[in-house]
Amino acid sequence: MDDAPGRCVDHLAIIMDGNGRWATNRGLPRLVGHRRGAEVVRTIVMAAPRLGVKWLTLYAFSTENWNRSTKEILGIMAIFARYIEREADRLAMNGVRMRFIGDRDALEPKLQKLMDGIEARTAHCSLLNLTVAINYGGRDEITRAVKMLTQKLACGALSADQINQESFAACLDTQDLPDPDLVIRTSGEFRTSNFLAWQAAYAEYEFTPTLWPDFTADELEVIISRFGNRIRRFGRVLAG
Ligand code: FPP
Repeated sequence: MDDAPGRCVDHLAIIMDGNGRWATNRGLPRLVGHRRGAEVVRTIVMAAPRLGVKWLTLYAFSTENWNRSTKEILGIMAIFARYIEREADRLAMNGVRMRFIGDRDALEPKLQKLMDGIEARTAHCSLLNLTVAINYGGRDEITRAVKMLTQKLACGALSADQINQESFAACLDTQDLPDPDLVIRTSGEFRTSNFLAWQAAYAEYEFTPTLWPDFTADELEVIISRFGNRIRRFGRVLAG
């Protein structure tokens, strides 16, 4: 754990919020806001490595987002599919490894296939680890992890005294990811909305009023440099 001022954001997580309002403010359908949001995803993914970010995790669709209209849900899913199809070459060429967290079972088989495909295609990339959370909820993830842990106990792969934070974290969707250093939420809402509930226990948070479709690499740079000036204590008392 590094608490030195000037340190980098190794793992940045973003709650991309405000697409709907961005569109509504302009008298446009909400899906136009999501489409514009996908363009901003492209910009931020390409900017992240130059800002020192090695892990970027984006909250794209929560377990609660199924409560939206069918039209909006289908539209968002189509945007995810198109993003994967259109960005695959660019991601691979730029060394971006793309992965997904969340429960995939409820997603369209076609989308699941695209997700599996891009994960395999970019598995060798290491400049940036991009993780997109789709049908993701922290509580749902923890519940699924408990189920997995129980199965490991039942089949004897794990004993009760081997249950600890490490063996539990190994059952989470994020088993291969470090914990986030910084979580940004756009659109002026001050909530964490079930995002990385376990993993963000010691993360710093930044809340910006900017709606996601208006978010830029320049604003990200300002937020990241502010993070560099924060001192992270991780519960310890610092000397001096
Ligand atoms: C939140 O805005 C955004 C979503 C629920 C969907 C996120 C989707 C994208 C950013 C599009 C593309 C993503 C990828 C990974 C290609 P909101 O609809 O909740 O906005 P509101 O709060 O103003 O209604």
